[in-house]
Amino acid sequence: MSRQLFVTTALPYANGKFHIGHIMEYIQADIWVRFQRMMGNSVDFCCADDTHGAPIMIAAEKAGVTPQAFVADIAAGRKPYLDGFHISFDNWHSTDAPENHELAQAIYRDLRDNPDGSLIEKRTIEQFFDPQKSMFLPDRFIKGECPKCHAKDQYGDNCEVCGAVYAPTDLINPYSALSGAKPELRQSEHFFFKLSDPRCVSFLSEWTQDGKLQPEVANKIKEWFSERSNPDGSTSNGLGDWDISRDAPYFGIEIPDAPGKYFYVWLDAPIGYLASLKNLLSRRGVNFDAYMANPALEQYHFIGKDIVTFHTLFWPATLHFSGRKTPSNVFVHGFLTVNNGEKMSKSRGTGLDPLKYLKLGMNPEWLRYYLAAKLSARNEDIDFNAEDFMARVNSDLIGKFVNIASRAAGFLSKRFAGQIGVVSEDGAALLHQLRGERAQIEQLYESREFAKALRETMLLADRVNAYVDANKPWELAKQAGMEARLQDVCSVCIKAFRILTCYLKPVLPELALQVERFLNIEPLNFVNIMQPLAAGHVIGNYQHLMQRVDVKQLDALFEAPDSAATSAGTGQTPTSNPAPGGEAIAATIGIEDFAKIDLRIAKVVACEAVQGSTKLLRLSLDVGELDDAGQPRLRQVFSGIASMYQPEDLVGKLTVVVANLAPRTMKFGVSEGMVLAASHADEKKNPGIYVLEPFAGAVPGLRIH
Ligand code: 2FM
Ligand code: ZN
Repeated sequence: MSRQLFVTTALPYANGKFHIGHIMEYIQADIWVRFQRMMGNSVDFCCADDTHGAPIMIAAEKAGVTPQAFVADIAAGRKPYLDGFHISFDNWHSTDAPENHELAQAIYRDLRDNPDGSLIEKRTIEQFFDPQKSMFLPDRFIKGECPKCHAKDQYGDNCEVCGAVYAPTDLINPYSALSGAKPELRQSEHFFFKLSDPRCVSFLSEWTQDGKLQPEVANKIKEWFSERSNPDGSTSNGLGDWDISRDAPYFGIEIPDAPGKYFYVWLDAPIGYLASLKNLLSRRGVNFDAYMANPALEQYHFIGKDIVTFHTLFWPATLHFSGRKTPSNVFVHGFLTVNNGEKMSKSRGTGLDPLKYLKLGMNPEWLRYYLAAKLSARNEDIDFNAEDFMARVNSDLIGKFVNIASRAAGFLSKRFAGQIGVVSEDGAALLHQLRGERAQIEQLYESREFAKALRETMLLADRVNAYVDANKPWELAKQAGMEARLQDVCSVCIKAFRILTCYLKPVLPELALQVERFLNIEPLNFVNIMQPLAAGHVIGNYQHLMQRVDVKQLDALFEAPDSAATSAGTGQTPTSNPAPGGEAIAATIGIEDFAKIDLRIAKVVACEAVQGSTKLLRLSLDVGELDDAGQPRLRQVFSGIASMYQPEDLVGKLTVVVANLAPRTMKFGVSEGMVLAASHADEKKNPGIYVLEPFAGAVPGLRIH
């Protein structure tokens, strides 16, 4: 009977691009999802951006845009990675979407109004407040002197010098990392989820220890039940209550019936899994509540080992005590290190940039295969090693797998019009062996033992290659009267190749698609693979299926973009050949790249300071455009040049503007372009920003060619 699965990966914070760790998790989950689909199961695979919280709010403010515009910008950059690595999410959503606001508020209400007694409690706590920014400060934004070793400029929760863990209030001479102001201790009412309630303790000790979680994960959790460390270094027994509220200003979801209070980001983030699913279902016209009410529905979350507490304690408790279904399981993976965790020096790059990998034309399936060949069901770290990567891909995928097709297909097309022949006993026995491994390989995929599944498959490929070596089709082709045997041997190879392709398809979906086209067959799955290709079936012409990894690509992948400008390994600026303006000249572009940027002469018609910003000026620019009524159309552009110019310095001047930049919603309004200005890369040491002005004679609207 086919299963119904809802699968997620952890929602990435919407404050930066994906790194290789994200991609590894998506690949791991995607392989499992594709396997499930190939088994005939129905899977909804969802993710979203994790948008809320103080760090994102503060980053948006620094960038001079609204948090909504900031996270929208990040979301817009996700697609090339996901498509590039063939991640088959059914939906990518946002925790700031209406579905999440509604679900988070409904779940909170259900926790608060739990019929057996509320699980929400209000308590007044003391917290540092930044009087200049008028906001309570998260621990990460309070700095000061370590109370233990007296190191300066340490964070509010722990000292990076001596490792001491403490409360922000223990810091000596604390200051706000946002404004530099001395923070004041103020009282505030916070909402707590009573995890220490005996109902929670009993539910969670059962839920985490009933055998579903990975054993190493369950054991770690057991320790948390008996021992908990406090900020002052002491420990207490049992689960602590969880502070789920934050005070305004906060980018988040408002707590019902509590003006000025927001959910802490980690309360609404996992609810984002459900919001993404709900959004997907509503687009399909499926009722979310009915879908979730299906008792056979299985729900799985793939996560990293750093967020186990949230997913195995807070999240199941949130769901269970609000009367909802809890996850069927949480699959925890370790971290990915690159080249033995070696700390990359600036000159050698800072790790493995997934987008750079794709831009270099490296095959995404090489990475999928390599990572799968290292992944197990255990919560273990794995290492990407460049030499090992090249050896593994070239020897397994090209040398063992693709080779089987390339050795047999040519003879079938040239000599037998692509027709599969009748296979004799020895070949049939080999194919029988290959099919016989199906259940074992299925079981390995199901249990996320991908490395083992690939090892088994490669052992089968070895057997097929041994068959080829024993039968030497290239010699049969030269011998008179051996046509039937040649067709027989090559047919066995192609049939074997089809089975191996099926076993590799969860990992190599694109390659499998090419093979399906070349063999003229229906999409392969773990059910139809048991029916053999019939004699007389005609295959297409073989076209090369995969290139080998080239060492030059790996060198380029790990080469720092600015290697010419920094002295090897030291990270210091060399004195002999300093980078102009503090940064190396950017990578070479073609004239077609330059042509994409539409630079125009613009006249500053008006200019004014921006209330609430010390950096920005608001400019009204004439770029030579007319509106529908034939009147000059002025553009509003914000520019971070207030430190250098008074508004009146600029009025009447000509400058250059990027005229085809997508409009950006800033905190203070929409900016419809960008004024060109020059500055040093290290603005702190070399302040100064200089607006460009054309030679005399230029008029608004002229394009810079
Ligand atoms: O650790 C992180 O990157 C979080 N943004 C993960 C959230 S997972 C889920 F709960 F949303
Ligand atoms: Zn210290």
